[in-house]
Amino acid sequence: MICNNIGIENGHLTFAGRDVCSLAKEYGTPLYIMDEEKIREKISIYRKALKEYFDEAQVLYASKACSFKKMYEILSAEGSGFDVVSSGEIFTALKAGISLENVYFHSNNKTDADIEFAIDNKMGYFVVDNVEEVDAIEKIAGEKGVKQKILLRLTPGIDPHTYEAVNTGKVDSKFGTAIETGQAKEIVGHTLKCENIELMGFHCHIGSQVFDSDTFLRGSEIMLDFIKEMKDVYGFEAKQLDLGGGYGVPYTDADPSIDIKENIKTVSIFIKEKCNALGINVPKILMEPGRSIVADAGMTLYTCGTVKKITGYKNYVSIDGGMTDNPRFALYGSKYTVINAGKAEEEKTFKASVVGRCCESGDIIQEDVMLPETERGDIIAVCTTGAYNYSMASNYNRICRPAILMLAKDKEYIAVKRESLEDIVRNDI
Ligand code: LLP
Repeated sequence: MICNNIGIENGHLTFAGRDVCSLAKEYGTPLYIMDEEKIREKISIYRKALKEYFDEAQVLYASKACSFKKMYEILSAEGSGFDVVSSGEIFTALKAGISLENVYFHSNNKTDADIEFAIDNKMGYFVVDNVEEVDAIEKIAGEKGVKQKILLRLTPGIDPHTYEAVNTGKVDSKFGTAIETGQAKEIVGHTLKCENIELMGFHCHIGSQVFDSDTFLRGSEIMLDFIKEMKDVYGFEAKQLDLGGGYGVPYTDADPSIDIKENIKTVSIFIKEKCNALGINVPKILMEPGRSIVADAGMTLYTCGTVKKITGYKNYVSIDGGMTDNPRFALYGSKYTVINAGKAEEEKTFKASVVGRCCESGDIIQEDVMLPETERGDIIAVCTTGAYNYSMASNYNRICRPAILMLAKDKEYIAVKRESLEDIVRNDI
């Protein structure tokens, strides 16, 4: 199995030690289920490795992967800070009782209202994308009598060899300010003149679903060279270096996996040696994992409806969810492991595409999956859906979003309620 929280007992699929068919029966489908212990385990790998290999470091969970109040509670109890990208994520964190001192506010286009909201709520750090944003923060912080701490987001100009939509570190990216063009150097000079901003250091994020550890070394190298250059040019030495997120997870047995602890160790050895060679202090290192914390802590359960066999062509297994709860195949052609949960040990002789219920041919969860003979009423499980599923879900076709059932060590609880039809019309006049 692709993750050690998935198993088979008495012919049924289990997740976090529970029979998923029983969960589907009790809580209804479609249903996101999440393994609280796995979330804790994954964030601790980062927290412990960063602590072991650096004098000063902090893990920041990238909220965009999956954001709801309980998630902030669980991760903050494990010592995590947070990367947020919108007033919505900030508000959710606040509602979960999180103070924002260890929160970093990203986004390539923060509105004035976002900036005000964040400053009013004592945002720890802004990760500033561009020079216009430096000016907007300088102005608003000044009006509010605040000296705002920031990092500058820079693009190191690296191709991490992942899929295009999540590739963010290249020079022509919509994110950050490019080192190669000289604009990064200019923005540092500009920021250092701001009275209401305290520049703490730099940020880069190269991409997502990255397995190649050289990518992180190359990113660190370029950023440390830049830190040294800024020390020489402006006498400014960065106190923090945020290396972004991006470690990949396996979605199928064919995918590679990555040893995060080993990778952090390699990066730390490299960073320490490089800082030594450059004659700069080792900055506080930040990492912002999202997918690698929650992806395999999640699974989605559906009930099979129509099974359509187009003789001589193709078979379809239709489920009671689809691109509204998981748009990743439609957007990126993402691979998933799909299992008929009640027939987990039966021979897989039936090839079918697993499709959703939206009025759209592209509403596909996975194409050409090998399943046992599948019929209406069967429970279909899609594995590794903890990241970028709930957070990217929509109400297309006015379909209600599923509940999130959290499976903890000795209890289970609804962390996010299932949307109702009344919720669907809540904002309609
Ligand atoms: N930091 C920054 C600045 C980011 O932009 C991202 C992801 C992360 C951290 C977290 O990266 P992770 O560890 O999750 O790879 N919707 C796409 C993924 C978009 C990633 C956006 N940025 C998907 O479903 O694959």
